[in-house]
Amino acid sequence: MKPAILVTRAIFPEVLTRLSGYFEVESNQDDVIFTPAELAAKLKGKVGTLATASAKFNTELLQQLPGLKMVASMAVGYDNIDVPACTAHGVMASNTPEVLNETTADFGWALLMATARRVTESEHWLRAGHWTKWRYDSFLGADVHGATLGIIGMGRIGQAIARRSMGFDMKVMYHNRSRLSAEQEAHANHAQYVSKEELLAQADHVVLVLPYSPASHHCIAAAEIELMKPSATLVNLARGGIVDDQALIAALRKHRIAAAGLDVFENEPKFHPDFLTLKNVVLTPHIASASEATRRAMANRAADNLIAGLIEGKPRDWLNPMA
Ligand code: DGY
Repeated sequence: MKPAILVTRAIFPEVLTRLSGYFEVESNQDDVIFTPAELAAKLKGKVGTLATASAKFNTELLQQLPGLKMVASMAVGYDNIDVPACTAHGVMASNTPEVLNETTADFGWALLMATARRVTESEHWLRAGHWTKWRYDSFLGADVHGATLGIIGMGRIGQAIARRSMGFDMKVMYHNRSRLSAEQEAHANHAQYVSKEELLAQADHVVLVLPYSPASHHCIAAAEIELMKPSATLVNLARGGIVDDQALIAALRKHRIAAAGLDVFENEPKFHPDFLTLKNVVLTPHIASASEATRRAMANRAADNLIAGLIEGKPRDWLNPMA
């Protein structure tokens, strides 16, 4: 008898085939979103699970699952997993770092450019049939080249975003829990380490790529937005909850900053409906890592972790090696 696992959401079929070589796989190709009670019921009798960031693994769930040995998440961010609770319950946890760095950095630039140069706003206007003449002042945006880029959260994705700024002759400032080495800063377009306050005051374009935790909750709220230039843009690629969406909506409405580009939202996939009433915001549905190759790489990395964890007791991207 092979050990039983649950794949909590729809996934590339070839990944299910791979996993079937090792495990008895219960899949969810209809992509039903399980309630916590349904997830607990589905996980009963399973030794492992390949999950996405939409499933929460906390004490309440884990204490119902004495047989569970491993949670392999298909995401780099793991704020949905209570890692100490996993450790306390002897459950290995893993994420999928590295494979999405470059794709996510590419998308950060797509969002930054679309936000600064009003790409989606002008497209909606064109599609609505309003384009009857060229005007000198139509959709004037902010320059990206030569501007100051501020990156909050200078991990691997932040550094990949900074590297790309060389082609735009930008000055880069960053804020992070810890300062990078001199060599890393040099590779990141000679990024300058500054306080969050200085970054917000100086940057023309602010990009958020920091992990979500209780400490980073509403790290950008009304007081922080108040520090920004009225001409500045804000891009959030990280997680909903890092930005206070209500405060951002108020700031965008009164043009306290020029525009925002958001790939993540508080309570997604629900999001604050007032965003839809604003023209100066670009909205995308959490797709920063969504290239064909990268999503396959993430799924396979999660599967690798699950196989290595359950067969060898040692997942590659082990978040709690003491478990
Ligand atoms: C990640 O990998 O953390 C992405 O945001 C997808 O959840």
